Amino acid sequence: VAPHLPPEESLDPADWESFRALGHRMLDDMVTYLRTVRERKVWQAVPEEVRARLDEPVPWDPAPLETVYDQFTRDILPYPTGNIHPRFWGWVLGTGTPVGMLAELLASAMNPLVSGHDQGAAVLERRVIAWLAELLGFPPGTSGLLVSGASEANLLGLAVGRNARAGFDVRAEGLHGSGHQALMIYASEQTHGWITKACDLLGIGRRGLRWIPVAPDHTIRLEALARAVCEDRAAGRRPCCVVGNAGTVNVGATDDLAALAGFCHDEGLWFHVDGAFGALAALAPALAPAARGLERADSIGFDLHKWGYVPYEAGVILVRDEAAHRATFGERQSYLHDAGRGVARQPLYFADLGVQLSRGFRALKIWMSLKTQGAASWGRVIEQNVRQARHLADQVRRHEELELLAPVPLNIVCLRYRLPGLSDTELDGLNQAILIELQERGIAVPSSTRIDGRFAIRVAITNHRSRLEDFDLLVRSVVAIGRELAGVTTSAG
Ligand SMILES: Cc1ncc(COP(=O)(O)O)c(C=O)c1O
Repeated sequence: VAPHLPPEESLDPADWESFRALGHRMLDDMVTYLRTVRERKVWQAVPEEVRARLDEPVPWDPAPLETVYDQFTRDILPYPTGNIHPRFWGWVLGTGTPVGMLAELLASAMNPLVSGHDQGAAVLERRVIAWLAELLGFPPGTSGLLVSGASEANLLGLAVGRNARAGFDVRAEGLHGSGHQALMIYASEQTHGWITKACDLLGIGRRGLRWIPVAPDHTIRLEALARAVCEDRAAGRRPCCVVGNAGTVNVGATDDLAALAGFCHDEGLWFHVDGAFGALAALAPALAPAARGLERADSIGFDLHKWGYVPYEAGVILVRDEAAHRATFGERQSYLHDAGRGVARQPLYFADLGVQLSRGFRALKIWMSLKTQGAASWGRVIEQNVRQARHLADQVRRHEELELLAPVPLNIVCLRYRLPGLSDTELDGLNQAILIELQERGIAVPSSTRIDGRFAIRVAITNHRSRLEDFDLLVRSVVAIGRELAGVTTSAG
């Protein structure tokens, strides 16, 4: 050993036994944390003194794990967004599960790189994709990939669709100055914001994205879609892909996916479905009819971290035609040679299906969730959430100081507090204030949207911990805070 070299070090613990003991304590604490979540406020703001404490310089010198863990429990753990709480219904966030937490621990202990290779994690991801394809009614051989979330999944789906239907080799030529027809994508005006980013990134641009108007139930107007496709063809543009929604972000509307599938088939267009949360409604027997046609999509993007209750991140892209999927993302790099045997067997299997080369072990939490809960659990709990949404909508309809602002086809309820004599603008301000109070008092976390220009308190239920009484409490609280803020003096219930 050369005497002038510093001693070699590793980043493993110097004392494995005290590490083990602290690890056990952390696990114990987290189990208690999950078990007692209902007893805490849904949310509280990060106090200024905590922000100040976290505003530290780069820690050049080591600190004991125990000290760092204490800081975590004091300064970080008490200030979550709140999405694991039974009364969190903001945006479309998921709750996660205790089994999912353990799976994440196991996955990060193994810490595999899942771009491919001959390893258990790769076998498991392919199995999980096959299960998900089967559950949603896609044929054997459907291709797919676990990704960060529906934004990425939808981007990948549209990329495959663009390349498959462009009529020229987009990968070789690019879109810039190609001299080819402008490529057009169609989606309802209720489609989530991922689509504008996707069109930017795919070179389609905002000009290539046609927003199609919706009917009063917030589903795409098929005749308007057909007209837009016709007009574009007549003007020399090239219609390429249609995006259908299974569960729109505002109200949870599901387009007539069977009609869209038929239309795309007849017109030679790629049919992509954004099923971010709504796709999994197809697993609930009572809700499946509304999602019919989803299984005919060329590609579908959805999340398991929303209505599948799996911890973040767990997005999924399925593509019916594996060749088209690989044709969009496949690459051959000499330094990633497929040896046919050994570790480097199919080293790029997953990397050739998306944009990530280095990727983690997302499959384990999905595999463990499905095996421990049973696949039918998703449909049951999703149906429970839809029953809760209907219960809340009923309460709103019955209360003269509350108003339902949109239909409730699935799990999203848009409501507002109202008082006679107040204008829409005054009601917007009042309801905005009610929403903030609900959040800041830690009672519940809905989010907001605008329905026909009016401010709505929006309750999106993708939460396996919510119970009917949580929604009764929400109704009582909205009314009580509304009266309080409006200065109404009444003792009426
Ligand atoms: C309908 C819809 N599509 C896409 C997305 C984007 O999903 P993610 O946040 O997983 O990227 C969302 C997110 O709420 C959504 O509701």
